[in-house]
Amino acid sequence: MPWLQRSVAACVAAPLQKAAPESPSIGHAQLPELISRETVRALEAELDNGASIAALRRFNDLLANLPAGSWEAALRPVMCELAYNLESFNPAFTAVLLRVQQTIGVSDYVRRDTALKSLIQPLAGEYGMHNNEAQALTHRELFSLFYADLLREPLEEALAANPRPAAAHRFFAQMMRDLNTACADAMQQACYAMGYNLAIEYLADYEKTWMLDSFRALDARVLAPAGRPLTEWVFLEVHAEGEAEHAAIGHDAVVAFVPAAEEVDR
Ligand SMILES: [Fe+2]
Repeated sequence: MPWLQRSVAACVAAPLQKAAPESPSIGHAQLPELISRETVRALEAELDNGASIAALRRFNDLLANLPAGSWEAALRPVMCELAYNLESFNPAFTAVLLRVQQTIGVSDYVRRDTALKSLIQPLAGEYGMHNNEAQALTHRELFSLFYADLLREPLEEALAANPRPAAAHRFFAQMMRDLNTACADAMQQACYAMGYNLAIEYLADYEKTWMLDSFRALDARVLAPAGRPLTEWVFLEVHAEGEAEHAAIGHDAVVAFVPAAEEVDR
């Protein structure tokens, strides 16, 4: 995923499209010009030609076409990896927030606050919190219900047997290394982390939409005919619907905070 190797990336600096509110303490003239929404979209679109999209497509084709006689044995370890992998994005989102918070005294007070006001929302959503709504089930609770419905056993047993599946653990460790230590400078690290966050949300939109499609296909071809129809669709549906909104929230955060000058190759 070459785009992740960059802070926010490599296009020419674009004109300011949407200014963040001005800080009461720093005049607008002193604030750096911000990255534009168009530039962010163009950088994201580079991911369409990257290895991640191809890998997600391949995974979902395999998932949808699991053989009727061996789907359960093949899927069980995958679901265990998924349980860890999907939860591991929560500390990644938290790290992005922390990177931005740690620019205190360096970034502009209002820009920092505006960005964080957006970034907190997808993270809070993982725990069932949405503005003006009662707290719903957390995404971990929803995954647990989905897992138990699919494999007819509690997720807790699988987690107890293999609490740290190898592939998902390796991926998590690499993600945290990137988010915590890619840059020496606090502001650059925060901008890098916000770009990383955009890539996660952008790819998650494909991932979750395709995963819902794959399970629908598997259900129709294999699970339902075998008398094991999926009944707990909420986890898949919530994510298939929600990721595009998360990507838009990520855009709001970036265009409120990231200076155009941070668009550098890394
Ligand atoms: Fe989630």
